[in-house]
Amino acid sequence: MSGAPGRAAIAASVLSADFAALGEAVRAAQRAGADRVHVDVMDGHFVPPITMGPVVVEALRRATALPLDVHLMVEHPERHIEAFARAGASTITVHVEAAVHVHRVLGAIRALGLQAGVALNPGTPADAVAALADVADGAVVMSVNPGYAGQAFIASVLPKIGRLRTLLPALAWVAVDGGISPATAPAAVAAGADVLVAASAIFRAPEGIEAAVARLRAAAGA
Ligand code: DX5
Ligand code: ZN
Repeated sequence: MSGAPGRAAIAASVLSADFAALGEAVRAAQRAGADRVHVDVMDGHFVPPITMGPVVVEALRRATALPLDVHLMVEHPERHIEAFARAGASTITVHVEAAVHVHRVLGAIRALGLQAGVALNPGTPADAVAALADVADGAVVMSVNPGYAGQAFIASVLPKIGRLRTLLPALAWVAVDGGISPATAPAAVAAGADVLVAASAIFRAPEGIEAAVARLRAAAGA
C-alpha cells in the first residue's frame, strides 16, 4: 500500500465528511486521487464518541472501489472483526491499548483474509508492539489522541516510525493518523510514513474535496 520512497499514499478519513452525501464525498476524493478510504469506528468507551459500524462500511463498499481501512477505536475489538470483514473491509486496525489479547486478534483478522494493523496512541511507546512482528501487516501511529477530527498534530510521535520498522521489519506499511494537512504532511513523509490519514484537511477544506486532495498529494511527495 505504500508509494515510492519519499511519497506516501493518501487515506481519506470519512469522519469529517457530510454523512448525508457520503457516497458523493468518497467519489470526489477518489476522483482527486485519494488512494484509500479510512473509516473511524468509535464505541463511546475506548474513546468518548460513537461513530459508525459495519452498515456504513457496507455502504462505502458499494460507493467506491478504493480499499477500505477500518480503524477500530473500540474495546473488545475481537467481537466486531467478522462483521467488518463481511461488510467489505480491506484492512482492520486495532489499538494495542484496547485489546487484551492483541496478538490473537491480529491473527484472527489475517485468518479472515484481511490485512491486520496495530494502532498506537501518542502516549504508547513503539516497544509496546515488539512482540507482534509475526502477525502485524501494518501500524498506525496516532499523531492525535484518538476520538475527534480536527485536532492539532503531535509531531513528537514521528520518531516512533523508525523504531517500529526496526522492531517489526516485515511491516508492509506505517500510517500516520491525526492532524495531517499540507503543512504537517512533509514531516510525516520525511519520518518514513507510507500512508497519511486525513479527515478535516480533505472533507472540511474551504477549497473543496478535490483541490484539497491534490494539495495534500503534492505535500506528500506525489
Ligand atoms: C482520530 C481518527 C482520525 C481522524 C483524523 O481519532 O482516528 O482518523 O479522522 O482527523 P483529522 O485528519 O481531522 O485530524
Ligand atoms: Zn483513524
